[in-house]
Amino acid sequence: MSTFAETLIAWQRQHGRHDLPWQTDDAYRVWLSEIMLQQTQVETVIPYYARFLDRFPDLPSLAAAPVEDVLTLWSGLGYYARARNLHKCAQTLMARHGGVFPAAPAQLAELPGIGRSTAAAISAFAYGTRAAILDGNVKRVLTRVFGIDGFPGTKAVENRLWELAESLLPALDVGVYTQAQMDLGATICTRGRPACARCPLAERCVALRDGRVAELPTPRPRKESPQRNGRFAAILADGAVLLERRPPSGIWGGLLSLPELPEDADAADWVALHYGLDVRKTTPLTPFRHVFTHFTLTLQPEALEVSPPAPAVTESGHLWQPLDRLADAALPAPIRKLLEQLVQDDLFSRH
Ligand code: ADE
Repeated sequence: MSTFAETLIAWQRQHGRHDLPWQTDDAYRVWLSEIMLQQTQVETVIPYYARFLDRFPDLPSLAAAPVEDVLTLWSGLGYYARARNLHKCAQTLMARHGGVFPAAPAQLAELPGIGRSTAAAISAFAYGTRAAILDGNVKRVLTRVFGIDGFPGTKAVENRLWELAESLLPALDVGVYTQAQMDLGATICTRGRPACARCPLAERCVALRDGRVAELPTPRPRKESPQRNGRFAAILADGAVLLERRPPSGIWGGLLSLPELPEDADAADWVALHYGLDVRKTTPLTPFRHVFTHFTLTLQPEALEVSPPAPAVTESGHLWQPLDRLADAALPAPIRKLLEQLVQDDLFSRH
């Protein structure tokens, strides 16, 4: 069987892209394209690239321009640090490198805006240097073909991928090989709906063999969501609980819920003050957690027993809901759970 690199090189020659405007060995043009393509799609870059070269056809013209002119030509591409670094890089090359891009990837990687992968790409395309790239596309191809688990943003996984990428480099045709990886990642081994049926690496792809294409690369681990606390008052009288309608926006907008107590208020005092109710007994209930999309709420319920009979409700948006008719009320799931637990524990009727 051919090697990974041989397979990709043969595929690139037949099926890869050959008419991209930056497919040249001019280091200035290659560099400009690689910076523009760092965070922007090919189709978006093409017109910007052409306008940029019209105005700044070479390194000296770019280095001599005011940075504002560079930013103007960049406007719409986003990530403007790229434009400022580009300008700074041009000036550094003029001042310290005689206006010539160094060929060694390590030297390129010391210049503003050029990381390890971009340095390798510039060096491979412009000078044919045998250097490995590892951008998002290549990470996706490698994790799938070699079945590598773990989020590629972690140092451990990234180091492993760099080692693998280095070990796969061909002796010759590094430029074609580099373009092959970019083309495969962009046109075949895409993030969603990859075209495995047309992939030259299908027969050696571990993810395809194991049915794990959709799982790899491993996504970024979900951040633990921020924690919030909420104290909820289950005010009980006569076998009923006092419910309050939530404001239309925010969590549980427009639903009925338990009144929320301020963080450090005394529950009985607050209820007396707020509702004019005389609390006979306060019982803290077991806190529990509810996970929302953007945060986790720890609910701290407190049962507050008011002497029967339940007084008439005076505040608007409030009602006494019989505990045996909870199913009729539009309650958020965790509040319903809390109240059902309370009924089940028979907390109210014991007194
Ligand atoms: N993305 C980054 N570099 C690229 C290149 N040279 N061709 C196409 N897409 C790219």
